[in-house]
Amino acid sequence: MDWRERPRCDETPEWAALTRLAAAQPDFDVRAAFARDPERFARLSQGAPELFADWSRSRIDAAAEAQLLALARACGLEAHRDALFAGEPVNTTEGRAALHPLLRAPAVGSAIAGWPTPALAPLHRAVLETLERMLAYAEAVRADPDMTDVVNIGIGGSDLGPRMAVQALAAWGAAGPRVHFVSNLDGHELAQTLAGLAPERTLFLVVSKTFTTLETLTNAHSARDWFLAQGGRDVARHFVGITTAVEAARAFGIETTFGFWDWVGGRYSVWSAVGLALAIAIGAEGFRAFLAGAHAMDAHFCTAPLEANLPARLGLLDLWNRDVLGFGSRCVAPYHAGLARLPAYLQQLEMESNGKRVDLRGRALTLPTSPVVWGEPGTNGQHAFFQLLHQGTDVIPVEFLAVARARHGLVGHHAGLVANALAQARALMVGQDDPGGHRHFPGNRPSSFLLLEDLTPRSLGALLALYEHRVFVSGSLWGIDSFDQWGVELGKALARDLTPRLLSGDVTGLDAATAGLIGRLAPFFEK
Ligand code: F6P
Repeated sequence: MDWRERPRCDETPEWAALTRLAAAQPDFDVRAAFARDPERFARLSQGAPELFADWSRSRIDAAAEAQLLALARACGLEAHRDALFAGEPVNTTEGRAALHPLLRAPAVGSAIAGWPTPALAPLHRAVLETLERMLAYAEAVRADPDMTDVVNIGIGGSDLGPRMAVQALAAWGAAGPRVHFVSNLDGHELAQTLAGLAPERTLFLVVSKTFTTLETLTNAHSARDWFLAQGGRDVARHFVGITTAVEAARAFGIETTFGFWDWVGGRYSVWSAVGLALAIAIGAEGFRAFLAGAHAMDAHFCTAPLEANLPARLGLLDLWNRDVLGFGSRCVAPYHAGLARLPAYLQQLEMESNGKRVDLRGRALTLPTSPVVWGEPGTNGQHAFFQLLHQGTDVIPVEFLAVARARHGLVGHHAGLVANALAQARALMVGQDDPGGHRHFPGNRPSSFLLLEDLTPRSLGALLALYEHRVFVSGSLWGIDSFDQWGVELGKALARDLTPRLLSGDVTGLDAATAGLIGRLAPFFEK
């Protein structure tokens, strides 16, 4: 099937069959399903590079999964995946490829036979060249005893990936400089970060794909002003640019730049030079392992039959939960403090990719798309919102993540931590009887469980690539463009209009609510 001719999932007979299947068991109970099928855990779980996934506590059975796989085939998922890897312009509204897997393709020994294809060779060479230059630079920064602090200035995809990964891989950061992140337009964040820094010992990474983003440019200008005001002398040595708009970075006064390409979406860019902060934090070897883990997952996604293809199976589960069962949100609960920023990272990855209301042809969708993704690390979340997950009126699937091995030497923590993740998943499913009472837990609340043996650069790379492909799978079946983000533009344009109005107090032509609030705020901004 030509990837451009793929039908939307709700336009296929397989979709109708899927909804009939669901309608035949309106009161599906996971506990009864386990009792019926001793093989349920084996059927609805599998290993993949660097991790193991179990979704047997979801409200799905093997028959529904088989029908979802048939639906995926009818929707040309494999052809679409192959087009993604071939560098076809799958980002149709922007006429671009989405070739982030190429960023992690090794120089030799690709695990995907025949890929990168000869047609991709020039791009692959450029990727490897930038990677080598970027890693050499990262090592030089790590080896420079005078550079004690690195500040990554960026937002969205130019912040969330590196910020999350640096925290997750803190155990690999020995001997490197301290790495800080500033993203918010709110000057409090930058001011607080700068307060502890010395200009001659600080390196600023200005990370912006477009080099036009208001937050990043405002912070970069303020950081440079601070640097000069504090007696900093060599802007060229202390400011580095990571961007596809190298000329714009030069105009800012930046001499050292690392480029990337318009076919790297912001939320898919941590594998490119956008990951420089991570490379500085974990070193070149660590960064290569991070890429290698992702490449292993790419190979799995490209080569495993759909029945044993983890991104495909989880992406289809997401579609089932959202469109057949109607669950509007998914909670992500990583039981590892290092993964504290994973929910925020996944919010951009999933909600910016699949928060869409029209299909590739611009027709309004009839099925709901991305769920709201949210979460907090366990066990903290247990003492905040798990009450609602257990006894609230909404059913919200929870995705638990746990890591078998701990990298701290503290006794008495890790078994308790992992046991809590297991206990929560079990409690959600089994529930507790107290008919009519406050201690009644209905149970049958769905969850999935991702298990890493260890949190390493390699396993983190594999985990993130799994999520990327999983988001692609559901987006593909919905027939949407998972690689554009037009929905962020309107607010940006309106903010440009409102900023001078806050200073002037001019509310001409505004809606009454905005005008009313400006009326209250303007006195604080008057010059
Ligand atoms: O918020 C929209 C967005 O374009 C994201 O997709 C992107 O990651 C972020 O802004 C930052 O963009 P840039 O890297 O161009 O500064």
